[in-house]
Amino acid sequence: MAITPLGNCEANAPYQLGFSATHQEGEFNALPIQGKIPRWLRGSLIRTGPGTLEVGKQSYHHWFDGLAMLRKFSFAHGQVSFANRFLESQAYQEAKAKGKISRGEFGTTARHSLLERLTDPLPRLTDNATVNITMQGDRFVSVTESPFPIIFDPETLNTIEQFHYRDRVPGQITTAHPHFDYQENAVYSYLVNLIPGCSYSIYRMDAHSDQRQLIASIPVQQPAYMHTFGMTEHYIILAEFPLLLNRLSLALSGKPYIENYQWKPEQGTRFLVISKESGKVVHSAKSEAFFAFHHVNAFEQDGEVMVDLIAYSDSSVIQSLYLEPLLHHPEQVIAAGELRRYCIPLSEAIAHYEVLTTEVIELPRINYQRCNTHRYQFVFGVGSSKPGNFIDQIVKVDVQNGTTQMWRSPDCYPGEPVFAAAPDAKSEDEGVILSVVLNAQTQNSFLLVLDGQSWNELARVQLPYHLTFDFHGQYFDAMASTQRTQLHR
Ligand code: CO
Repeated sequence: MAITPLGNCEANAPYQLGFSATHQEGEFNALPIQGKIPRWLRGSLIRTGPGTLEVGKQSYHHWFDGLAMLRKFSFAHGQVSFANRFLESQAYQEAKAKGKISRGEFGTTARHSLLERLTDPLPRLTDNATVNITMQGDRFVSVTESPFPIIFDPETLNTIEQFHYRDRVPGQITTAHPHFDYQENAVYSYLVNLIPGCSYSIYRMDAHSDQRQLIASIPVQQPAYMHTFGMTEHYIILAEFPLLLNRLSLALSGKPYIENYQWKPEQGTRFLVISKESGKVVHSAKSEAFFAFHHVNAFEQDGEVMVDLIAYSDSSVIQSLYLEPLLHHPEQVIAAGELRRYCIPLSEAIAHYEVLTTEVIELPRINYQRCNTHRYQFVFGVGSSKPGNFIDQIVKVDVQNGTTQMWRSPDCYPGEPVFAAAPDAKSEDEGVILSVVLNAQTQNSFLLVLDGQSWNELARVQLPYHLTFDFHGQYFDAMASTQRTQLHR
């Protein structure tokens, strides 16, 4: 497959290299390090995101569309090794064989010849798992919003096969952000089912199992586009933004997937609060219309449910992440939103919010294992210092007092900051932040290691080439995975 940078356009954005293809797949031991990696950091950061936004002479249209590439940074004895490989999904293999885009993605349709349409009349859903990394049962998987996780080998990054659930929970659309309940040792997530009527299927899956248990099936006239959801100790929270699916359009229009959703602000945003135990919708509350990709955290407090998320006044952020504005109209790009806390009183039908910081923020992370579903203090995310500069800073927000700390460096464009807790940490932010940063000046990427507490830069681990901007990843602690293996022998 021709994997080339976007060469045929007059790109004028300073960060444009981050939207061009990664030049090679490779494996490197002991990368050059400026600074020092803490000796306690032993494990791997595994991430996914597009490795190219082009196939042959065709370009994908949206940042979310590119063919998935896995990236792994492994830490041991203060040294860092790195590997990156394309995920060999069906979508990737077909694109490679045909030299053109084979499956429709979030913002791109696949064009098929008459012969292809006659021999294979039903368009196939993509399995290009480019959004997040998680574990299903005991296997590492790369996931997207179609329900086809792809299993890979965490050592070699070799693609193994599609993950198959041993159940029949109905649904064709899902989220790439499942939640983990550490008390129950179980995963919670949902599917959107479009056949025969529309419903949300909320499910629970025991860790180490490959069987989902349907806990709620909630009928809905027009499903909302939801990238994530919230979870507290007792509840699942769906924030239904008024970006609503037109099922007929999805079936017949031939438009890219996301363009079959319509923004209907007059409907407002509806929060559904669902009991994890009974599966019942115990409460529903409305607010003015807004849109979000990412929930940050949620928790219960004095008969109210607090839902923190990154909000936008409408869904135009989706349009602004098409490659056309990203590369040619950087001043129009919105890449980060407002950190809001919605308060849902379980006795009232109206949800109110407060703004937790004046800084814009996206790709939010927390100390998940310690704080998810609980009252907490810190959010880590990326942000933007000025219009036209895409994502150019990392921000730490203290949500209890609204103060922020910032990391910025000239011509540098950071990715999602993943928190790795120090062993026996006493405070919530004791650990490090790991973020893959594009340096537009030196035309390569590096892994930034920040001290979570002091916010001091600890190290930069230099890569020999640049990586295309990615989305999400997880840090897997080597000690925790040893315990996991021992438990399941
Ligand atoms: Co996401």
